Amino acid sequence: MAVQTIAPGVLEVGASHPDRRLFDALMPTVHGTSYNSYVVQGTETTALLDPVDEVKASVLFANLAEAGVKRLDYIINLHTEQDHSGSTRMLLERYPEAQLVGTAKVAGLMETHLHLAAGRFLILKAGDRLELGGKTLVCHPIPFAHWPDNTMYWLEEDRILFSSDLFGAHYARPDNVFATNSTELRQAARAYFSEIMMPFSTPVARFTKQVRALNPLMIAPSHGQIWYDPDFILSRYERWTGSAKRRAVIIGYVSMHGSTHRIVEKLAVELARRGISVVCRNLVDEPADLMLESGQLIDDMVDAAAALIATPTVLGGPHPAAAYLAILMNALKPGLRYFGVVGSWAWQTKAAETLNALTANLRAECLSPLMIEGLPTAEDEAKIADYAAALAEKLEAMEDVLD
Ligand code: FEO
Repeated sequence: MAVQTIAPGVLEVGASHPDRRLFDALMPTVHGTSYNSYVVQGTETTALLDPVDEVKASVLFANLAEAGVKRLDYIINLHTEQDHSGSTRMLLERYPEAQLVGTAKVAGLMETHLHLAAGRFLILKAGDRLELGGKTLVCHPIPFAHWPDNTMYWLEEDRILFSSDLFGAHYARPDNVFATNSTELRQAARAYFSEIMMPFSTPVARFTKQVRALNPLMIAPSHGQIWYDPDFILSRYERWTGSAKRRAVIIGYVSMHGSTHRIVEKLAVELARRGISVVCRNLVDEPADLMLESGQLIDDMVDAAAALIATPTVLGGPHPAAAYLAILMNALKPGLRYFGVVGSWAWQTKAAETLNALTANLRAECLSPLMIEGLPTAEDEAKIADYAAALAEKLEAMEDVLD
């Protein structure tokens, strides 16, 4: 990724990682990702905001050379997670004169995770200003968006907000650094929100409000494109962190011998007949699908009103693939209104009890389980239709929002 000038004296010098397929060894990144790094050049001093992942340090160094950056006075860590901080030590070796800068929380975590002594940091707190000469960076901590140390910096003169992970997207940028508002980018931003920000929806809603009040000209996150039209991403964050939901039911399922598959098909048809959007994803159609489909399901759930897990009974409990999805949902906490377990069993089942226990963090209303013995009969199909009708009725009673 080449050096890009985003404003006079403000450069993007980070690295794209288009072939990265999983983030945190957990969530699919179908568009890859980027580790953004910004240089702000004042008349007196120069600062770099966020290095890059260690594996892309050479790209950062090449970009700094291409930009003619011979001296860095400050290296500002916005956040300690290693996809940004991983190359800090190498950067310091190249620019030994640079002063490390961060909040006390950043400094503490950098000591823990990179063994860089906290005492090496110039500590800033909320509202502190770093004057570079005609360019002023103001410190805005945003704790738990998504680590305790995330920090934004506001470039006062240019009204550019360096927002750390907040408002990012796992999107390997092409040479144009500015957001194109493409469908792919919109999808990438939502998928990113679902993994990184959704578990912290309450503080993230508050930070979004604060950013609205700042009225930035540009939002420059640490992943993905720069939002030159901040309303595009701010309005989505307002919706994703809000209580309004789509009349949609998201179904993650696994089927061993076809019974659960039949239940899911019947449910989907009955819900769709009533005008409810339905997304069904098979967790294990192929062995490699589990993480990909589970990640996609979490993304689908960002603004959906309801989700179901459909599972056969395996030795009395849920299929392990269904348990994986349940644990992921429990960690990422989609703001669902309704959650239910459906499926099949042969001689005994505790599958629903187990999955309900695994999703205890969800604030959704828990629907009564629908567990069918063996291959569904005509009588069972009537029960499935009743289940779908009751769920559809709940969704019809709420206001719908458009995607
Ligand atoms: Fe992109 Fe939390 O690191």
